[in-house]
Amino acid sequence: MRVRYDEKLGFWNVYGYPEALDILGDPKTYSSHTVRRFVPDAEEAVTAGNLVQLDPPDHGKLRKLVSHAFTPKIVAGLEPRISALTHELLDEVADRDRFELVTDLAYPLPVIVIAELLGVPSSDRPLFRKWVDQLFDNQDQFSLLDQDEEQRALLEKRMAQAQVMLDYLRAHADERRRQPREDLLTQLVQAEVDGERLTDPEVANFANLLLTAGHITTTMLLGNTVLCLDTHPEQAARVRADRSTVPGAIEESLRLLTPFAATFRLTTTEVEIAGQRIPADEVIAVRLAAANRDRRQFADPDVFDPTRDPNPHLGFGRGIHFCLGAPLARLEGRIALNILLDRFPVLRTDPDNPPVFLPAPDLTGLKTLPLRTS
Ligand code: HEM
Repeated sequence: MRVRYDEKLGFWNVYGYPEALDILGDPKTYSSHTVRRFVPDAEEAVTAGNLVQLDPPDHGKLRKLVSHAFTPKIVAGLEPRISALTHELLDEVADRDRFELVTDLAYPLPVIVIAELLGVPSSDRPLFRKWVDQLFDNQDQFSLLDQDEEQRALLEKRMAQAQVMLDYLRAHADERRRQPREDLLTQLVQAEVDGERLTDPEVANFANLLLTAGHITTTMLLGNTVLCLDTHPEQAARVRADRSTVPGAIEESLRLLTPFAATFRLTTTEVEIAGQRIPADEVIAVRLAAANRDRRQFADPDVFDPTRDPNPHLGFGRGIHFCLGAPLARLEGRIALNILLDRFPVLRTDPDNPPVFLPAPDLTGLKTLPLRTS
């Protein structure tokens, strides 16, 4: 089955790889501004500058602007710091025969990196964790059909929670306008394309997107990759022995256990997908995780094969919204995995304490991954 309507939630699921490519490659027909359907009265202040929600031409303008502040060179320059942080975090568990990968490394590492990059104090990370957990550590599913009181109340609660994060970032952005520093927030308030600068809500929303995306995604990537290696001892031995296969293992983990399992679009006109007619103004969930296992595209799609080449998975999306943070996520993944393998000759799941996955239906990632080192 390539397309299916979800009767309960009121949107269309698309599972196939070529169909996903068509959708992600055609922003005119498939708009990213889905918040309009989920939260019709969402305030502009909460959505402005949210790159993932923008369509052309606004998307291109903002992406160009923020790309100036988030260049591959800046990301590559982070390598020594990511490496030092990974060692610092692992020093804490060095003399133990077990640790919990998510709490001890996979969660704090990307948060500290993105907080330092933005220029917000990484010591505020208990706050960020509270905010982000409110957003993702739950099983919320918003229906487009049955928008009862309970759902409205929940949406309002989520918006109010998001506002707290935005106010925090806005205060920091204001401060940078007055007193510029060497950080990404300063670059964002100063960045200019064609004489235009970002407004305050745009800066806060974009910083919020980075802080949120910088949090949970690399955390999921790291946990998933370690889990894939644990469940495939032969592949793990090969990766240990030949570290040039680490990037391949990371890409393959993104394919097999896709952290962002779905992304959403809104039809701007009537369309036909895999023979199914879908009216205009309908929400489509592009099931990236399913597309990544489509056997029309990937041979033996359920097999974890770090040497798969090419591996055109959709874990980072495709087209104009292709993940802006992909180089950072890949870098963090490569460094952290190499250091883990260097420091721990044995790294295995704990049979007495099995991994727990996050409850959110559209995320594939671990909430806890207890590991033993002997
Ligand atoms: C393994 C880690 C990551 C995964 C799996 C991931 C996944 C994705 C996906 C699937 C999209 C496309 C969404 C769509 O088309 O609707 C996306 C976009 C985006 N990601 Fe990531 N991401 C990761 C890490 C990061 C990091 C570390 C950052 C920033 C620090 C980041 C920032 C962004 C931004 C800003 C966009 C929006 C780009 C645009 O709309 O033009 N991501 N990401």
